[in-house]
Amino acid sequence: MQIKCEINHKEYEIECSPTDRVLDILRAHGFLSVKEGCGGGECGACSIILNKKLVNACLLIAIQMQDSKILTLEGLESETHDIKDNFIKEGAIQCGFCTSGFVLRSYDYISNGGVKDEKIIKESLDGNLCRCTGYQKIVEAILKSMR
Ligand code: FES
Ligand code: FES
Repeated sequence: MQIKCEINHKEYEIECSPTDRVLDILRAHGFLSVKEGCGGGECGACSIILNKKLVNACLLIAIQMQDSKILTLEGLESETHDIKDNFIKEGAIQCGFCTSGFVLRSYDYISNGGVKDEKIIKESLDGNLCRCTGYQKIVEAILKSMR
């Protein structure tokens, strides 16, 4: 089948099977910020924004991309510049595997009016896993991005 959609503000027509995973399609088209961690909706490494909603690309299939608007971290370079900068300054990146998912989640939280409250920020990170940082530095980076 052919999927028509917009990825990072550009129109695409993609030949694929209706059940191909969105994660695989995006990576095959060069959007390598979308990572495969657990492959089962637990880690958030594959986070994307689909029709203004933060979702896990590993849980979506091609048919769900039809006529959609998708943003990956590559399409939000300028909007997430300060967040990425603060992740680096606060030491919230170690191996970096989880980072694009955390930056996208932080962007989603902040741009949707998330409050500057450590406890609520921690709760908002529920869908993302990091094996390296211990999370506190990530929370500090988000708080700093809200100053
Ligand atoms: Fe999608 Fe982990 S790879 S949530
Ligand atoms: Fe390594 Fe998060 S920095 S998994």
